[in-house]
Amino acid sequence: MESPFKADVLRGKVALLTGGGSGIGFEISTQFGKHGASVAIMGRRKSVLDSAVYTLQSLGIRAVGFKGDVRKQEDAKRVVESTIKHFGKLDILVNGAAGNFLVSSEDLSPNGFRTVMDIDSVGTFTMCHEALKYLKKGGPGRSSSSGGSIVNISATLHYTAAWYQIHVSAAKVCGVLSSFRKARDFCQNFHLSSVLLLQAAVDAITRNLALEWGTDYDVRVNGIAPGPIGDTAGMNKLVPDEINNKTREYMPLYKLGEKWDIAMAALYLVSDAGKYVNGTTLIVDGGLWVSRPRH
Ligand code: HXC
Repeated sequence: MESPFKADVLRGKVALLTGGGSGIGFEISTQFGKHGASVAIMGRRKSVLDSAVYTLQSLGIRAVGFKGDVRKQEDAKRVVESTIKHFGKLDILVNGAAGNFLVSSEDLSPNGFRTVMDIDSVGTFTMCHEALKYLKKGGPGRSSSSGGSIVNISATLHYTAAWYQIHVSAAKVCGVLSSFRKARDFCQNFHLSSVLLLQAAVDAITRNLALEWGTDYDVRVNGIAPGPIGDTAGMNKLVPDEINNKTREYMPLYKLGEKWDIAMAALYLVSDAGKYVNGTTLIVDGGLWVSRPRH
């Protein structure tokens, strides 16, 4: 589908995307590149990165891939610094890396739970933390008045509860945690306050960084919570067909979203169109989160 944005809205910008080599992350990489940005993508699998970079470059996009795991602070630091070395500056960070699998809470081991928390929540914070010195106003390659921006990819799972997704619900949001002592104990290990337990972990990171870094450094921090997006690992792996078909029966827009929809939301948030938007998590789910069966 043709973009409603001008092709140069991100001209001269440099973006780093974790999980930017596949799925929704790759579509965001592609659309950022098509709108003028230089794109660095970070991921764990070299073959995925190589193929993504090849595709981006064949579209005329300045792209580079850096292998790394967001769970390792040294990887986060190295990839951010490699991006600076390669492109000279950093304007945009998108945290799209996510771990996920369907498993009942009973069968989920504490280490499995911790693994997803480490990728989705701690990994998001680590990347933000390592990128800050380059994103803040007055940072390398930046003016003294203008900071960069961050987009954290979240989810809507925590708004209610989701079957076999306790680890992701907790990692993306902590809304369902009060009834899960085990999950709460893990969150306390991360020094989250009891107030944060009522919020999403990633969404809480988004709001708190928006407050601190927006005020001090002119860095805008926002999130996107995608609903069911077609042709993604999340949908293929996590949503069985019978649930998928049932869901469609009461979705307000009666259709799955496209990766493009999330990329356009990201473009809006990081471009000047979103220059007064800070601390919000934009739900892009066709209204699914407000829906219920018609009686
Ligand atoms: C139960 C599992 C498991 C599974 C891993 N574990 N996979 N438990 N069911 N399918 C447990 C392991 O038993 C282990 O605990 C712990 O997790 C760590 O597993 P490892 O395989 O050693 O870790 P690692 O190699 O680092 O990989 C972990 C992972 C990977 C990244 C989470 O398993 C994975 O799922 N990758 C796919 C990522 C993905 O699909 N991303 C798209 C997300 S889409 P023990 O106790 O045995 O040591 C998304 C959208 C959400 O998030 C919205 C959907 C609607």
